[in-house]
Amino acid sequence: MAAPLPGVAIITGAAGGIGAACAARFVADGWPLLLCDLHAAPLEALAATLAAGPGQVATLAGDIADPAFPDALVAALAGRPIGAVVHTAGITPTMAEADRILAVNYDATVRLVEVVRPRIVEGGCAVLIASMSAYMVVSPEIDAAIDALTAADDSTSLRPFAASPQYAYPISKRAVMRLAAREAPAFGARKARIMSISPGMIDTKAARAEQAASSQMDAMLLKTPLSRFGEPSEIAAAAAFLCSPAASFVSGRDMPVDGGLLAALGR
Ligand SMILES: NC(=O)c1ccc[n+]([C@@H]2O[C@H](COP(=O)([O-])OP(=O)(O)OC[C@H]3O[C@@H](n4cnc5c(N)ncnc54)[C@H](O)[C@@H]3O)[C@@H](O)[C@H]2O)c1
Repeated sequence: MAAPLPGVAIITGAAGGIGAACAARFVADGWPLLLCDLHAAPLEALAATLAAGPGQVATLAGDIADPAFPDALVAALAGRPIGAVVHTAGITPTMAEADRILAVNYDATVRLVEVVRPRIVEGGCAVLIASMSAYMVVSPEIDAAIDALTAADDSTSLRPFAASPQYAYPISKRAVMRLAAREAPAFGARKARIMSISPGMIDTKAARAEQAASSQMDAMLLKTPLSRFGEPSEIAAAAAFLCSPAASFVSGRDMPVDGGLLAALGR
């Protein structure tokens, strides 16, 4: 799939399992990349391994949850428009306390979208990585709190529902999923699109750490119709589709890529 649009593809969490697969896929599709991650060393190592032409891959190391990150991103863009975004940076329940999970997974995503919206080209697409766990949050009160959020709000109103990392994670991801829906009209006004992808269990170090910490994932694996973990490249393929002209009328929704698990669970 050749790069269909002018503009850079931003991939956050690029040093991670899903992010690195997205970087490999998008560079193979011919996109110029701006790769972002918290850690500079693995980011530079990844950039060095990508078979890219001169200037095709730029990097930006930094904490996406730092309120100064948007300015650093704008500086790194150096005036170039954005053609695609795959926002994979995120943290799971074993990695941090509840407030940090909300700050990284939701608050930083809102600020990223604010940077992307005015700079995305016609036909461009932003893909936010949510999680199938977002479908496990079944609470009218939580949905009401999420739906009351505006672009000016952070996750403060969600904190009473997120007493532990195990609650904060799915709530943060449900808020990300609903953020894509909420932002679709504003992206549409620019003839651009925004989607979320909800991965099921994908074979990355982060997912294996969660598996080691909880028997829940083994139970879910047994229920997964395709009876296996997904590969990071399978998320990258879905993101590449969404960012291509083949998905030109697809916006504002979540796409589960989960081996059929949510269907099997009746969600
Ligand atoms: N792997 C799965 O099974 C699975 C399932 C559902 C959802 N997800 C979501 O997919 C995304 C990627 O998951 P993964 O398995 O590749 O995880 P990963 O830990 O391998 O990758 C995440 C990357 O994000 C980066 N990151 C974390 N916090 C950051 C911050 N504050 N600023 C900048 N970068 C930061 C990390 O350094 C890491 O490189 C996450 O948002 C995760 O919640 C993963």
